[in-house]
Amino acid sequence: MTMSNSFYGYSLIVTFFMQLLHAWSQLTPNFYDKTCPNLQNIVRNEVQKAFNEENRMAASLLRLHFHDCFVNGCDGSVLLDVSGGEKFALSNLNSVRGFEVVDRIKSTVESACPGVVSCADILALVARDSVVISRGKSWTVLLGRRDGNVSISINGTDAALPSAFDTLDAIISKFKRVGLDEKDVVSLSGSHTIGLARCAAFSNRLFNYSGTGLPDRSMDRNLLSQLQKLCKDGDQNQTTLLDQYPGGGYVNIFGNNYFQNLLNGKSVLSSDQALLSSSKTSYWVKIYNDDNDRFLNDFADAMIRMGNISPSSGSYGQIRKNCSRVNR
Ligand SMILES: *[C@@H]1O[C@H](CO)[C@@H](O)[C@H](O)[C@H]1NC(C)=O
Ligand SMILES: *[C@@H]1O[C@H](CO)[C@@H](O)[C@H](O)[C@H]1NC(C)=O
Ligand SMILES: *[C@@H]1O[C@H](CO)[C@@H](O)[C@H](O)[C@H]1NC(C)=O
Ligand SMILES: *[C@@H]1O[C@H](CO)[C@@H](O)[C@H](O)[C@H]1NC(C)=O
Ligand SMILES: *[C@@H]1O[C@H](CO)[C@@H](O)[C@H](O)[C@H]1NC(C)=O
Repeated sequence: MTMSNSFYGYSLIVTFFMQLLHAWSQLTPNFYDKTCPNLQNIVRNEVQKAFNEENRMAASLLRLHFHDCFVNGCDGSVLLDVSGGEKFALSNLNSVRGFEVVDRIKSTVESACPGVVSCADILALVARDSVVISRGKSWTVLLGRRDGNVSISINGTDAALPSAFDTLDAIISKFKRVGLDEKDVVSLSGSHTIGLARCAAFSNRLFNYSGTGLPDRSMDRNLLSQLQKLCKDGDQNQTTLLDQYPGGGYVNIFGNNYFQNLLNGKSVLSSDQALLSSSKTSYWVKIYNDDNDRFLNDFADAMIRMGNISPSSGSYGQIRKNCSRVNR
């Protein structure tokens, strides 16, 4: 090997490690400690206000972060108002919500520390606070994301986002594409312990499932007749609890009740019920059903890993002034 070859190899290796270091050192819990010391309080207060107005908002805000991260990394792209973009994908249209809450938080944050905090980081904080407000377990949010300026196509978005109509295999492969595994599929599906689903997301199970002429036989009979009543007039906007608590009523508590219902055929979405169709996932369903602390801890770990999904492009982004559009 000549001197110059080995030097070339050496600098490639150094470049590689510098890039790795850069990627790793990007996110840190202390990112805004000097530039926006009150950030976490501001966000928490605003999330609390939104929750007091409407409990459901906790689930909606959590889902925004998830739908942001799975599409081109956690870069706030789900917030962009771009016609034909992410917001208008099948998995988002008429179902992602909470944009006005994020806008309100962003403008409060901008008054305190202008031009400093990314919308992508606001989504990460808001997701954590939504879980805590719903009496889940807290975690330390890593910060320092930047906002992307591209909202990808409708088709690209639907290809990346797990959907209520996907098979378990399809869901697992969408998770694997972003570095998450079967265990993450199960713990993150546990987010359906809070929030509501529209008939649009499950009415396919109620009357003529997969062209059989019959409802989905894996669904509990009482739940089936209750949901048939709810959706029978074809109003796709009617909603029900994703996690059907015994006795009904909206108990907005983040916990493993979801897994118990799943084991009893009381999941609303077929994609939830499908977690029992493979031992790779049913294994974790049973573990979380038996151990709420384990569920809450694994959920928090999975959220941190999901929050680390980076935008694919190297030179990335800006700090948006207005979360719904790229800076002019
Ligand atoms: C359902 O809700 C969406 C927005 O949330 C609205 O645009 C649509 O018109 C509603 N559909 C019906 C049938 O009410
Ligand atoms: C998007 O997907 C739909 C349905 O699969 C297809 O008909 C359409 O051609 C696709 N559009 C683009 C731009 O790829
Ligand atoms: C169920 O759906 C299949 C396929 O879409 C259709 O051929 C069949 O007629 C439907 N059955 C009923 C009872 O509506
Ligand atoms: C989008 O971001 C990239 C990377 O920072 C930048 O080069 C590009 O000019 C931006 N485009 C717009 C329209 O702001
Ligand atoms: C942010 O941009 C949207 C357009 O995408 C606009 O309707 C809204 O008023 C803007 N908000 C602020 C605070 O400027």
